[in-house]
Amino acid sequence: MWSVSFQRRFLHSSSSLMKKLKSKSPAEQRWLQRQLKDPYVKASHRLNFRCRSAFKLLEIDDKFRLLRPGYSVVDCGAAPGAWSQVAVERVNSAGEDPESPQGTVIGIDLLNIPPLDGAHFLSCHDVTDPTTHAKLLDLLPGGQAHVILSDMAPNASGFRDMDQEKLITMCLTLTDLAERILKPGGSLLCKYWDGILANKLQERLSSVFGSVRILKPNASRKDSAEKYFLARVYRKPGKGS
Ligand SMILES: C[S@@+](CC[C@H](N)C(=O)[O-])C[C@H]1O[C@@H](n2cnc3c(N)ncnc32)[C@H](O)[C@@H]1O
Repeated sequence: MWSVSFQRRFLHSSSSLMKKLKSKSPAEQRWLQRQLKDPYVKASHRLNFRCRSAFKLLEIDDKFRLLRPGYSVVDCGAAPGAWSQVAVERVNSAGEDPESPQGTVIGIDLLNIPPLDGAHFLSCHDVTDPTTHAKLLDLLPGGQAHVILSDMAPNASGFRDMDQEKLITMCLTLTDLAERILKPGGSLLCKYWDGILANKLQERLSSVFGSVRILKPNASRKDSAEKYFLARVYRKPGKGS
């Protein structure tokens, strides 16, 4: 249940949001109204997640057990940090459970990512830039990750095909990153926007991973083209594939 202070804060912010609605464009009004009604937004406030996307990763991880204590995880497009919050808890990178091995979480974003216990953030870094890959090699224990997560998304231009192509191109660079840092047997979870180019990404992933699934978690909005590829059992090119 929500605490009284939280309810007051939420009701206060809801009523001030309602007041602000009048000065907004119709599209902004629709967005604000949807936020106010969304159960995942409410739950993320209650559970102190930085945003509702935490529930997508929680749902996927509950089903597929990607994140285990002691694992090293790279979170691409990490701001504001909700996926990293989930990863820190699941791989025990803040050392909260002294009985379990302690993992590592490294988040990267073009934007600033507010600090989080148990995570190392590379704010203002581009995941597609090879110099970022080199920094990751230094930061990861043994230069290797068990899991690469990517919830990256470019700023939407409003041109659906162009945005989709841009995101697929960004996701394709994740296979270069995997070649540098992902352990054989490791996993990659990446968001894409569905469209004709998605097949190209799926083929590329299938060429280096043992299995590739398409996921649409319940927390992902039904009217969004967003989906996730979950690629498992990485085979490093040239190493017994
Ligand atoms: C949907 S948000 C991620 C939300 C995050 N998973 C969370 O739970 O807090 C997408 C992020 O991708 C980042 N992004 C887009 N292109 C990027 C790039 N080339 N390198 C790093 N981050 C990028 C954006 O700045 C944005 O913060």
